[in-house]
Formats: sequence, structure tokens, C-alpha cells
Amino acid sequence: MKIDILTLFPEMFEEVFSSSIIKRAREKGLVEISCHNFREDSLDPHKKVDDTPYGGGCGMVLMCQPIFDCVRKLKKENSKVILLTPDGEPLHQKKVIDLSKESHLILICGHYEGFDERIRTLCDMELSIGDYVLTGGEFPAMVVVDAVIRLLPGVIRQESFENDSFYDGSLDYPNYTKPRVFEGMEVPSVLLSGDHKKIEEYRKEEAEKKTKMRRSDLLKEGQDGDILLQED
Ligand SMILES: C[S@@+](CC[C@H](N)C(=O)[O-])C[C@H]1O[C@@H](n2cnc3c(N)ncnc32)[C@H](O)[C@@H]1O
Repeated sequence: MKIDILTLFPEMFEEVFSSSIIKRAREKGLVEISCHNFREDSLDPHKKVDDTPYGGGCGMVLMCQPIFDCVRKLKKENSKVILLTPDGEPLHQKKVIDLSKESHLILICGHYEGFDERIRTLCDMELSIGDYVLTGGEFPAMVVVDAVIRLLPGVIRQESFENDSFYDGSLDYPNYTKPRVFEGMEVPSVLLSGDHKKIEEYRKEEAEKKTKMRRSDLLKEGQDGDILLQED
């Protein structure tokens, strides 16, 4: 997969993309990530990328020209252009799975008051990472990149992310590691039983219980009154 990120602050990505699983995925050649400062594409003699909003109001608005030119330079037939914006479609694991099957993502990070509305016409998709407003699209872009990369073949074990929260619509089951007893708190005995069938049943039950308690919005009622995952 190739990922291009349009940002005025490419330095923000350096540490994140040179650490941990993203670093290893890049080293193994499973993903190629490039950051592009679209200020370099500005045709303005002072490399200006923003201006005051028509109609008045506070803040500066990102202009069309640098972003249009930068995207057009990078875009290929199979590219998906994604705008990070608080009024975009909320990012969910299902969307992340879909994105992990793409071969080329172009992410546009807004900043300041936002961007000229006409920039939306360049995009195949608009994504929000939650109902709150950040200073810029850099953290949202990192969130998208991290969530997508861990699903790429060869990055982490498939069974590992298939058991994660949201993959099948439910939350993850509880995990424990050594020691067996910590400050009086014991590991559930079924996990020490070596009975894999029982362990699987226990984990399924616990995941369902937790989902029902914490995120009942992920569940729906079946025809016979059973509680089902939205996926079913
Ligand atoms: C200060 S915000 C602009 C907010 C805009 N005035 C609004 O109210 O929708 C600047 C940029 O940060 C990014 N951003 C902020 N919050 C975001 C979120 N929750 N999801 C995705 N992008 C976000 C977007 O790229 C946005 O253009």
C-alpha cells in the first residue's frame, strides 16, 4: 500500500512513523508513506496557503490552488482521496477494513479555521475521528494510518486483529498474564484449565457481556428476542 499525506506540518509525523509496528511495516516494504507539504505547491510568491474567509469571520481558510495541484500531482487511477474533517463520516473499524484493501490513499489534513469548501470536490471520502475539534488533520491522519496499517497482510498476525474490539462488531474479551495472583486478584481458573473449547466459550461470553454493558449500541434485537451483533 502507498499512503500520501498532505500536511503543512510533516515533521509531526516523523516520530510516529519511525516507531513500533508502523516502522517495521515500512522497513518490510509493506507500506510506503510520504508526507507532502502543500505549501511547496503554492503559486503565491510568498508561498501563501490560506486567506481570510469571504463574508467575514475569524480564522484563516486553506485555499484551493495548493491542495488541488498537490493532489493532482499524486493522484493515480486507483487512488482514494480522503479529507480529514470533523463533519466527515465517523471512522469505524468496518471503514478501516475497507481502507486496508485499497492500494493508494491520499489523506488531506486541514488546519486553521478549515479549508475552502470547493476542496471537497477533490475527495472520494470525508472522515471524522470523533465529535470533537482538533487543531489540524495531522492527528486524525495518524489515527487512520495506524488503524489501516495494522490490518495489512504481514504486519501483525491476522488472528490477533480478528479478536480485537469492533472487528466482528463486539468488544474484546478480558486478557490476563503472569502472575496468576496479583494483590489478591486471581486469574479466572478457566484460563488455566488448558481446555481450549471452554476457554473459547468463556471469552465469547465475556466479550458479549462487556459489549452489552458498555456498548449496547453495537447490538440489535433478533426476531426471537435474542441480542445479536449488528453484523448478524
Ligand atoms: C480547527 S479544525 C477546523 C474545524 C472547522 N471549523 C469545523 O468546525 O468543522 C482544523 C482541521 O483539523 C482537522 N480536524 C479537526 N478535528 C477533526 C476531527 N474530529 N476529525 C477529523 N479531522 C479533524 C480538519 O482537517 C480540520 O479542517
